[in-house]
Parts: sequence; structure tokens; C-alpha cells
Amino acid sequence: MSGHSNYEFKNPVVNWLDSRLPIVSLIKGQAMDFPTPKNLNYWWTFGGILAIMLVIQLISGIVLVMHYTPNTAMAFASVEHIMRDVNYGWLLRYMHANGASMFFVAVYIHIFRGMYYGSYKEPREVLWMLGVFIFIAMMATAFMGYVLPWGQMSFWGAKVITSLFSAIPFVGDPIVTWLWGGFNVANPTLNRFFSLHYLLPFVLAALVFLHIWALHVPGNNNPTGVEPKSDADTLPFHPYYTMKDLYAIMLFLMVMFAFVFFAPNYMGHADNYIEANPLVTPTHIVPEWYFLPFYAILRSIPDKLLGVIAMFSSLLILLALPWLDSSRVRSGKYRPIFKQLFWLFVFDCLVLGVVGGQPAEGIWLIIGRIATAYYFLHFIILLPLIGLLESPKPLPASISEDVLAKSDAKSS
Ligand code: HEM
Repeated sequence: MSGHSNYEFKNPVVNWLDSRLPIVSLIKGQAMDFPTPKNLNYWWTFGGILAIMLVIQLISGIVLVMHYTPNTAMAFASVEHIMRDVNYGWLLRYMHANGASMFFVAVYIHIFRGMYYGSYKEPREVLWMLGVFIFIAMMATAFMGYVLPWGQMSFWGAKVITSLFSAIPFVGDPIVTWLWGGFNVANPTLNRFFSLHYLLPFVLAALVFLHIWALHVPGNNNPTGVEPKSDADTLPFHPYYTMKDLYAIMLFLMVMFAFVFFAPNYMGHADNYIEANPLVTPTHIVPEWYFLPFYAILRSIPDKLLGVIAMFSSLLILLALPWLDSSRVRSGKYRPIFKQLFWLFVFDCLVLGVVGGQPAEGIWLIIGRIATAYYFLHFIILLPLIGLLESPKPLPASISEDVLAKSDAKSS
């Protein structure tokens, strides 16, 4: 990352700068010439998509703040002011709100991609763990951002989730009072959530920097899970993957803007267009869709404290994934049993998502409990076990061999 540059640039000004601050050679080495496996598929474009989404959220957020007022007496009205009076305020707000949802669409795809291709395995454990911290920071950021418009769901969502901490024995209630900055969700709560919602994306940006640094030590994994053996297995990142990523980013943004322009409230909740009222509880308090699986886990346990523990464990268990999966083969492509269990796990997460949006009673409660049990079973029992039991398919000798075998099969 630091030290002297090995590059000689044609432009003397660039050379002058680079010999004093090797930033041009850093970009050239890490973002242009960087050897990248030549067989990456479109699932590998989501890292770049996520980076762009972070930038969009930062810029739209910073401009929104220029017109937003973090005070319970004015927050709701200031958001309406943005929507009606500020030039293109509606666009900024809808981009930020739908951007948050699309950020989660991308991150879920990115995480499942990593799980399928075993990208968390040695030597990429720290890269993976940094990803989990990013995910947790994203969730905290989104949760606090949702409180800012000070609608009914903002208020009651904040109340329900912060109250969970009261389940902690002895210190629970003081912790909740401390989080709220008083004895209810009120102005001090809104203020601190605003402050943290502004701060956390910059922490996220720092974590993403570390994430990409940790990626550039071993380099990318790839669909075969076999590390590159020679130069024939890789391509320079630019122009091959800059162009591929750009194309995917464009497609992804088209989907996002389809929501922004044609269905801007589709992923939101109507109750958040009613100003927060501490005296009126909405009939169904539901979080944003991206929290639903974890909300289902929380509510599937009859005991409040155990529910909170289960919910946090369902996130933290991801940190242990590199050590829970006992298989020596990295990519799911060559693991017949794992492949099926992977899709079962994806299905389980979708079921949890559906259950999280339903009232916690009757059949939904039973389905939620089974799905929660399966979630943990997958990590604690199935992954360690099948790594030992299954016989993987033979791996290609190299990335090139795999690519050539495919093109031979196509041409014959
Ligand atoms: C703001 C959020 C994130 C950004 C901007 C980001 C960015 C990136 C980028 C640019 C790459 C390389 C391209 C690619 O493989 O797609 C990457 C790879 C990776 N990311 Fe992320 N990431 C984020 C969140 C996460 C999360 C939440 C996880 C896991 C919990 C994760 C795990 C990984 C892994 C394991 C790789 C290596 C993939 C491979 O080479 O096979 N990332 N990330």
C-alpha cells in the first residue's frame, strides 16, 4: 500500500507526484492492473454495485440533511417540505429511501454468493468477517435512518426495538433509559439517532476500505474455488472487469430507478405518512422488509431475553462460518450435498422473511419456530457434518482448464 512506486509514467507531472505520493501507482496497481480470475460471473459484480450504492446513499443523504430538521416538533413537516417545496427534493428522498432497500438487495445477493462459492474460507476469513461487521453496521444505520421522518412506524419501530434491551437482567431498564436519553422515545432519541445515522456511513466507508484491502491480499475467489496458478488464469481488472461491473451497475440502477419513478412507496409502509403519535399504537408494527427474517427469529422464541439472544446470535454466527464449514473444497459447484443444503437455507431465509411480516400467532408462529430451528441447524450441525461426509466432485486443475473445457463443450 505504501513505499516507493515501481511505475514509470509518461506524463512528467504524474511522475513527479507519484514519486512523492505513490497514489497514481496505487490506483494503477490495485484498480487497473490488478490480476483478477478470468472466470468471474455476474454474481461478482455485486461488490462494485454495493460500493456505488454506498456513494449514492452518502451523497443523497448529505443533501437531504440540508433541508431536514432533527426535532420532534419539525422532523415530519421538514420531510414533507423536502417532498413538496425543495427542488427535486422528492427525487432525493425517494432515491435515499429506495436506495436503502436496493442496498440490502445487493448485500443479500453478495452474502449468498460468498456462501455458495465458499469465499469465506481460508485465506479470506478476515475479509468475510469484515463483511459481517459491514452488514451489522448497515442494519444499524438503516434502523436509525428510518426513525428520522418521525412517522408512526418510525416511532413505534424505534420503541419496540430499543425496548428489547429491557430484557437484559438487572441493567436492562437503565440501558433503555440511556439509549432513549429519557423515559420515552422522544426528542433526545431522535437527535442521537440523527447524529449516529450521519456518522455510521463514514464508519461503513472505513470498513469497506479494510474489506477491499483484505480482498486485495489473496485476490478474488472465483466460481471454481481453485486459486489462479499462472498468468493465464487472470485478466487485468481494467478494462475487463471495470466494463463488466459498469454494465451490471447500469442494469441495477435501472431497477432502482424503476422503483424511484414508478413505485416509490412500494417498499415502504403507509403508516409512516402519519406523524408519530406516542398515544396511538399501529395495529401491526412491522420493520422494513430487510429486517423481517431477523424479526421472525426474535419473535419465534417465547422468552423475550432468549429471543433477543437468538436474534443477535443469528447474525454473529456468520462470524464463525469459516470454521463451521469443515469441507476442504471451496466452491459449492463441486459439492453435491452442500449445494442442495445451500438452496434449502436460502428458502429457509425467505420463509423467515415472510413469517416476520405476519402477526406472531397461530400457524405463522409454528412455521417461524421451525424455520428458526433450521437456520441454526444449518450452521451448527449440517455444515460441519456434511463437510466430512460428502464426496466432492473432482476439481479442475486450473481456472483455464475449466474455462477451456466449457468452451470445448460448446463448440463440439
Ligand atoms: C457496503 C457493503 C459492501 C461493499 C461495498 C463490498 C465490496 C466488495 C467488493 C468490491 C468485493 C470484490 C468484488 C466482488 O467479489 O463482488 C467484495 C468481495 C467480497 N465481499 Fe464484500 N462488500 C460489502 C459487504 C459485504 C458483506 C456484508 C459480506 C459478508 C458478510 C461481504 C463479503 C465479501 C467476500 C467474502 C468477498 C470475496 C468474494 C470473492 O472474491 O469471492 N461483503 N466486497
